[in-house]
Amino acid sequence: MKFEEKKWWKEEIVYQIYPRSYMDSNGDGIGDIHGIIDKLDYIKSLGVTAVWLNPIYSSPCDDMGYDISDYRNILSDFGTIQDFEILLSEMHKRSIKLIMDLVVNHSSDEHAWFIDAKRSRDSKYHDYYIFKDASKGIPNNWDSYFLGSAWEYNEPTNEYFLHLFSKKQPDLNWENPQLRKEVYDLMKFWLEKGVDGFRMDVISLISKKPGFPDRNLKEEIGRSYANGPRLHEYLKEMNSDVLSKFKCLTVGECVGVSPEDGLKIVGYDRNELHMLFHFEAMLTDMGPNGEFWYPAKIELKKIKEVFTKWHKKLYGKAWNSIYLMNHDQPRSVSRFCNDGKYRKESSKLLATFQLSMCGTPYIYQGEEIGMTNCHFEPEEFRDIWAINYYREMMEKGFKKEDILPGILYKARDNSRTLMQWNTSMNSGFSSCDSTWIKVNPNYKQINVEEAEKDSDSILNYFRKMIALRKKTPALIYGDYELIDEENSSLYVYRRFDENMNLLVALNFSDSEQILKFNGIKSTSNILMFNYKNAPAVSNDEICLRAYEAIIIRLQ
Ligand code: GLC
Ligand code: CA
Repeated sequence: MKFEEKKWWKEEIVYQIYPRSYMDSNGDGIGDIHGIIDKLDYIKSLGVTAVWLNPIYSSPCDDMGYDISDYRNILSDFGTIQDFEILLSEMHKRSIKLIMDLVVNHSSDEHAWFIDAKRSRDSKYHDYYIFKDASKGIPNNWDSYFLGSAWEYNEPTNEYFLHLFSKKQPDLNWENPQLRKEVYDLMKFWLEKGVDGFRMDVISLISKKPGFPDRNLKEEIGRSYANGPRLHEYLKEMNSDVLSKFKCLTVGECVGVSPEDGLKIVGYDRNELHMLFHFEAMLTDMGPNGEFWYPAKIELKKIKEVFTKWHKKLYGKAWNSIYLMNHDQPRSVSRFCNDGKYRKESSKLLATFQLSMCGTPYIYQGEEIGMTNCHFEPEEFRDIWAINYYREMMEKGFKKEDILPGILYKARDNSRTLMQWNTSMNSGFSSCDSTWIKVNPNYKQINVEEAEKDSDSILNYFRKMIALRKKTPALIYGDYELIDEENSSLYVYRRFDENMNLLVALNFSDSEQILKFNGIKSTSNILMFNYKNAPAVSNDEICLRAYEAIIIRLQ
């Protein structure tokens, strides 16, 4: 039996920071770089080894920084390049790596390239973007992720330009070698400054389908635009020109990518990227007709199926990442478990899952204290996607009461509310009267300061789970086997290598569940348990209470 080969990037535990909402150091209501610096000791105390920062570059912030107007500068709301350098050196002093967001499927329409490109067909930057002659009308039926057509008319050249996201995010033309060189140069700029890697925004979309055929509207939108024919050529070129020359971690955000497609991006023999974020677990809770904005319920069986399928396909051949939320997804405890009565148990259960699966774990700010979804009134939304959708539905004549539950369930703003530090004003995030987004009113109960006081808190459980993962090779490199596939309440699996055989059992339900060992010989060697009092383990069964999670060492 062959287990995973050792690599430093497989051992990382990444903490994702959404800078706008993490900590405001100067009282303007917006989180900033010095705010993060002030919290580095806290971050270090979690045991994480790397931080991924959402974009901090200059941007008009139409899509919260995913619309970059200068790739070599810092958004003034966040600080200066000098502040960035202090952050990087303070992180390195603490042995924390810094992963930057790389957003190169598109730029901002306020980037100097685009400002020049849209002026005339003769601009030297015109071909950095995807323009199509307008004389025959709109080029195809492509719609943007943020609703409406993906094509915007540009008067001065009588053309349409492509924007898969907002019209302030024109797609870059990767077919142009000069554009690709610009991208590689800006990557080198940051790597030479000492950053430790990149999270690559919607990287599966950079190669467009030749001829721009109409899309099948029944197909999942990500799938329609992903995996263009030159994707691997571009990633290999990026790898040989840039990535291979630095010690850096790379994770691709891969919308529309199946395990088969994924293998081609992160396969060990491919020389492209180290690991990816796939979307399959995030797409399991759609409405009955595939509606995205729908107040659905997660089905455990589907989750098990997705994670198991990816593991089987990749193990020994390629590396994955494990995430349950990020700045684009609702809060994990609200989505996957119970954020009311069993919030604590649920959050610890999810921590157990995330940190005991095969793949580099990514923990999103606030997940470590069990932050939950938040109630928003329509005027409180800050995310362009939710705002557009609400407007469109209201224009179509739907009622607020009918639209809101779906938006509240999926809204990206759920994860973007202010980090909850303590019980003071704005949860200790800022001294400003009006912060850029609201704070979840539950901050009086759910905050870091309270969690620090309680040895049994979610926060301290995260620390223990992180420490356990770090010292347990079987959890990092071991194989995985799903047990009791059909069970819709319990998620049970083994993680094992040549030295250790671990059983992880997670009760994803509100009621007691019996876990039968069915011939797997158990010892009562409990490594982790998310309740204070461990249950009695017999040789053939154990009773798990609501949302209990346990890791047992088997013989
Ligand atoms: C990615 C980002 C998301 C952004 C989009 C367009 O999915 O994570 O926040 O809106 O790409 O850049
Ligand atoms: Ca600030």
